[in-house]
Amino acid sequence: MADFHDVVIVGGGVIGLSAAYALGHAGLKALVLDQREPGREASWAGAGMIAPEAETPSASPMVRLRARSARLYPLWADQLREETGIDIGYRKCGGVDVAFTEAEDAELRAAAGVWRSQGVAHERLAPADRARIEPALNPEAESVYFLPDRAQVRNPRLIRALIDAIANRGGRVQAGGAVRGFSMEKGRAVAVMSSAGRFACGVVVVAAGAWSGPLLEPLGTRAPTPPNKGQIVLLRGDRPLLRRIVEHGGNYLVPRDDGRILVGATEENAGFDRLPTERSYHVLIREARQLCPVLRETEVELVWAGLRPGSVDSRPYLGMVPGSSNVVIATGHNRAGLQLAPATAEVVVDLVLGRSPRVDVRALGPDREPVRDTDSAAFRS
Ligand code: GLY
Repeated sequence: MADFHDVVIVGGGVIGLSAAYALGHAGLKALVLDQREPGREASWAGAGMIAPEAETPSASPMVRLRARSARLYPLWADQLREETGIDIGYRKCGGVDVAFTEAEDAELRAAAGVWRSQGVAHERLAPADRARIEPALNPEAESVYFLPDRAQVRNPRLIRALIDAIANRGGRVQAGGAVRGFSMEKGRAVAVMSSAGRFACGVVVVAAGAWSGPLLEPLGTRAPTPPNKGQIVLLRGDRPLLRRIVEHGGNYLVPRDDGRILVGATEENAGFDRLPTERSYHVLIREARQLCPVLRETEVELVWAGLRPGSVDSRPYLGMVPGSSNVVIATGHNRAGLQLAPATAEVVVDLVLGRSPRVDVRALGPDREPVRDTDSAAFRS
């Protein structure tokens, strides 16, 4: 059949593209369909923060996906540079988590307990040590924790590198055309139906972010993916002003090597509206200046927003769609898509090949009851 694809992946965000990339390495050619430009939603609303490695073995799928991804990122960075010539900007720049009130300090102490139990390197900094680790920090902070293994990637470059690497191995990324549903025969998806055509396939991977939930409803699967709007601001300084990632609750500053600084991110329930707002802009600018007063010296270069996919709780959906023999779901990563992408991609490869996944993801299946994920509370973004 001329138009047959081993795997059709619905959604060209970092999850779909990473899965296609890993499938390419496993010898399978994937077609990735994206209704817009690939990587322009949640993958664009994040700043490419990668969690530190966790050394303690854990049974929690979230801890394992995060720790495994942290280990894979430097390998992927080398591999992608070799395969595409693109440097995805992986850098272990370290990070500081900051509290300004006693209540925030109590939260950070609790987070430090989680880091300790997971084997994540961290240190509560004495006031005299803070400026040595991050000179730009507001000296009025109540407490500061240093996480030396926090890392970052340049998410737009990662997206570009993945697209090129997928093509190098015979896969394809197609932009434009909204997926409408699947043609099913006896519990098997035989084709993906989109406004751009019919794509016959061996396996389907649903990684369509906030658009995933409704696609799965006709299959009788409950996997709501409510959009969580994230607004972000890009600042430009005339010199590097910040060394480390700075986190304060759900907000953060991420310094790039060229002196630019990303300030993120809001969490807004605004449906599918992705227009930046004046109000969120002011909240983020105020936050940036409170965290690091020297950022008053920067100019605003860009403001944008993207839609992250929520789930029934704070964890992604990862597994086979119940009642189907060849539909995989990998979405709902909310704020952690970039952070969890490489390990998620490995699991998708296992599921596509019918192998037992290397991370036990049974607890992440769709149709589940919501669970409070205490393992991830210490990594809010
Ligand atoms: N991963 C960062 C964010 O969603 O804001």
